[in-house]
Amino acid sequence: MSHSVSRPRRSVLFVPATNDKAIAKLPQLACDTVIFDLEDAVLPEQKAAARDRLAKFFAERPQRAREYVVRINSLKSPWGADDLAAASGWATDGVVLPKIETPRDLLEANDVLDEADAPDTLKLWAMIETPRALVNLAAIAELGRDPAARLSCLIAGLNDLAKDTGVMITPDRRYLQPWLLQMVLCARAGGVDMLDSVSNDFRDLDSFAAECGEAAAMGFSGKTVIHPAQIGPANAAFSPSAEALAEARAVVGAFALPENASRGVISLGGRMVERLHLVQAEKMLARAAMIAEMTGDEK
Ligand code: COA
Ligand code: MG
Repeated sequence: MSHSVSRPRRSVLFVPATNDKAIAKLPQLACDTVIFDLEDAVLPEQKAAARDRLAKFFAERPQRAREYVVRINSLKSPWGADDLAAASGWATDGVVLPKIETPRDLLEANDVLDEADAPDTLKLWAMIETPRALVNLAAIAELGRDPAARLSCLIAGLNDLAKDTGVMITPDRRYLQPWLLQMVLCARAGGVDMLDSVSNDFRDLDSFAAECGEAAAMGFSGKTVIHPAQIGPANAAFSPSAEALAEARAVVGAFALPENASRGVISLGGRMVERLHLVQAEKMLARAAMIAEMTGDEK
């Protein structure tokens, strides 16, 4: 049985569009996706130059296999409209909209892309980083059910959310848990990916790995990262583990036995296994195969 498996977005690296050194480093990095940032990482006086830099990058876009998206400035800012108009003509896989608040904000950007005849493969991503976006999240994520709306992925933006709500970001993120889980729930309901926020402390990789592990356990699709050192831990946390893969193979193997062909539920290693677990196991194996194909990993 084959299942549609979305492309891996385990590690999604922010790169300031003005940072030539960082851009030059990209071919060596193992992130699944790159987000070129035109927004917060770029000063107002450099916005136009940053846009020109990306136009050049996409004109000679390398490595077709890796996903490249662009975070534009808010359409409510002085630069957003020019950013979106430019990006609609680039060979980018997506446009990340910051500080959206309602489904309408997404639909407006979608209209611009449609009018510019941007290809259907150009998707919309949205930052969930304002109180209103969080309150409207179910309706925003529901747009994922309509292919014409282009919505593909949501990103938690905790730095802005903390700024606008006053919530404290503690190392264990205890006060954020309800919001983080709500994000995963809404994104899954809408059939789109949900990426965890960046972690600012890029030198403390032990804490970072733990945070990635928790995000994976919460159901996030992957982690947004800001520094090359964070890519490895994110890829590891959001890849199926060797044990999980072995278990998935055992489930597939058990249901493939002739004596189980007409059984809905079986016993395996002292545990009840249902056909829904078979579907889950097949999805995990398909995802692992896709990761291996994309990265050349042996995992
Ligand atoms: N993408 C690609 N390469 C990066 C990178 C990134 N996001 N961040 C750092 N690097 C490169 C550096 O250029 C450096 O390259 P080198 O080995 O050729 O010299 C190497 O990785 C080591 O970098 P380091 O010196 O440890 O960090 P830094 O002081 O150069 O940069 C930051 C630290 C935080 C300024 C930088 O990581 C960054 O700008 N991150 C993205 C921030 C961003 O986009 N924020 C907006 C969204 S939240
Ligand atoms: Mg932000």
